[in-house]
Amino acid sequence: MTGEVYLDYDSSVYYHGIYWNSYDYVVRELNRRISGDHETPWTEHFRKTVGGRVFKKALILNCGNGWVERDLLQRGLIAEAVGVDYADSLLEEARAAAGDLPARYYQLDTNTAAFPEGDYDLVVNFAAAHHITYIDRVFRKLAELLPEDGYFVNYDYVGPHRNQYSTQQWLAALALNARLPAHMRQVMRYPYLLTMKLTDPSEAVHSELVISVMKRYFRIVDHKHMGGALGYLILTHNDRFWNAKPEEQAHWLKIIMDADADYLRRHPGSSMFDYILAQPDKHSLERTAQLEAWTREEETREATARRNNGLYYRQTLYAVVFYQLMSVVGMIKRRLLRHNS
Ligand SMILES: C[S@@+](CC[C@H](N)C(=O)[O-])C[C@H]1O[C@@H](n2cnc3c(N)ncnc32)[C@H](O)[C@@H]1O
Repeated sequence: MTGEVYLDYDSSVYYHGIYWNSYDYVVRELNRRISGDHETPWTEHFRKTVGGRVFKKALILNCGNGWVERDLLQRGLIAEAVGVDYADSLLEEARAAAGDLPARYYQLDTNTAAFPEGDYDLVVNFAAAHHITYIDRVFRKLAELLPEDGYFVNYDYVGPHRNQYSTQQWLAALALNARLPAHMRQVMRYPYLLTMKLTDPSEAVHSELVISVMKRYFRIVDHKHMGGALGYLILTHNDRFWNAKPEEQAHWLKIIMDADADYLRRHPGSSMFDYILAQPDKHSLERTAQLEAWTREEETREATARRNNGLYYRQTLYAVVFYQLMSVVGMIKRRLLRHNS
């Protein structure tokens, strides 16, 4: 029984628009935050951590257009890949782009945890788990299907649920954004829960649980914070910054990413993106009473949210103030329109 999961949306959104890592400068900085070296991406850092091991068969969660497994195959990190995703159109793209590479694809709802084939020695979560509703069920299944010496590699958004940033983070991002020249500033809009539910309801549905639930079933081998509390907010979907002159971009990218690093140092719990390498803790799967309690907790959480119009938590203070303000502005606009017509 999967309950209500959020599948009815346009998956092509993931490959359009400008993200903070559309900038080379940001990619190099994220490399440094993971591997300690601007030139070493997570894949090569991962290779080093596992002592150059080549994985026989990797399961790629919510693989999208398949670029992650193509990269892993081409780098010789894995010998075979199985990609799963809900979106048919993206799976078609992945199949076409794979060509002769040993990659197979299946359409499924990850929340069912009914993964195909088997004999995996690696599971890859790249920007995938923050879309999972039944995170306990899925992570438990992954710990079951991996052998004791298998690995679970994660590169994911682990920030606030449905991007409901804390007031402290939001105010810090507003202040940094205000320092930018007007023509490069982000249009700062606090993510509106109802819009998120309509456009991509699985977005960050349980990003806030990814790390804690992973720790139930996995031993953490390597864990690095990539930050993003300020940099992601200011640079993502910021067309004005993207269209600025290269020398202006270079100047402000350094300032933004330095501020982002400083914020991360002062608030390590604020990291929005993490790299985590883990191995299954098989003992965790023997604690039957605990497993039953976690299943009940998950089912109750989802049933309660369904009754509550998809809401899981009370809104942040900033969201309450912001939404009230928006509704007053909307009311005034409607009155003015009525008055003028
Ligand atoms: C942010 S994209 C990441 C895609 C890919 N991992 C990448 O990095 O390019 C999230 C992916 O999750 C998929 N997805 C979301 N909910 C899903 C579900 N319940 N079952 C399977 N796939 C799902 C979407 O179709 C999309 O491809």
